[in-house]
Amino acid sequence: MSKKYFDEVAQEWDEMRNSFFSEAVREKAISIANVETGKIAADIGAGTGFITEGLIRKGLQVIVVDQSEMMLSEMKKKFINVREIDYRVGEADKLPIPNETVDYSFANMYLHHVETPPKAIREMVRILKPGGKLVITDLDVHNFEFLKEEHHDRWMGFKREDIGRWFREVGLKKVIVDCAGESCCAQSNSGSEHAEISIFVALGEK
Ligand SMILES: C[S@@+](CC[C@H](N)C(=O)[O-])C[C@H]1O[C@@H](n2cnc3c(N)ncnc32)[C@H](O)[C@@H]1O
Repeated sequence: MSKKYFDEVAQEWDEMRNSFFSEAVREKAISIANVETGKIAADIGAGTGFITEGLIRKGLQVIVVDQSEMMLSEMKKKFINVREIDYRVGEADKLPIPNETVDYSFANMYLHHVETPPKAIREMVRILKPGGKLVITDLDVHNFEFLKEEHHDRWMGFKREDIGRWFREVGLKKVIVDCAGESCCAQSNSGSEHAEISIFVALGEK
């Protein structure tokens, strides 16, 4: 379970995240969705609000979901005066959001932590209104075992063709899986391994 890990690293997450990848990932995710001001988005596996921060700047309301109370409580400290965020503790397989509620579902670096990725995708699509968009940014396939051991990754990235197939299997249309134009970089604790893994962005419309 990665919940314990994320509860433990919550206070350091922003710094860690910054060393792994930059704001370019968020810009790519938000721009590919062509988000409109005033709409409602979900940020699933929101952590401390990396994606949410960009969405708020664009004038959206955001429902954030995460399994880790500690990540969400760090996020609340950062967005103390922001009324547009609705915080919900919840699990991938049963998101605490009713059917057809949001215009966009975003998930950054979340899918490689969940037990059953196609099931998590189905849940993110369930909460989308008809015409809503799903945007996932995550890691391409890699072979850095230390990320499993040290960062509790469950999946060693994904093949883009699997992501595209899972999107189409849940009925999404206009599916695109492309380069996010950024890599995730991490150093193993021993210092002997350095991972540099390309990041994909996937988009589909309900
Ligand atoms: C690598 S962090 C990414 C956080 C944030 N999206 C970002 O880009 O900084 C993954 C997040 O997904 C959450 N998460 C992992 N598995 C989950 C699950 N099964 N259900 C809900 N949240 C989950 C973790 O608690 C963590 O906050």
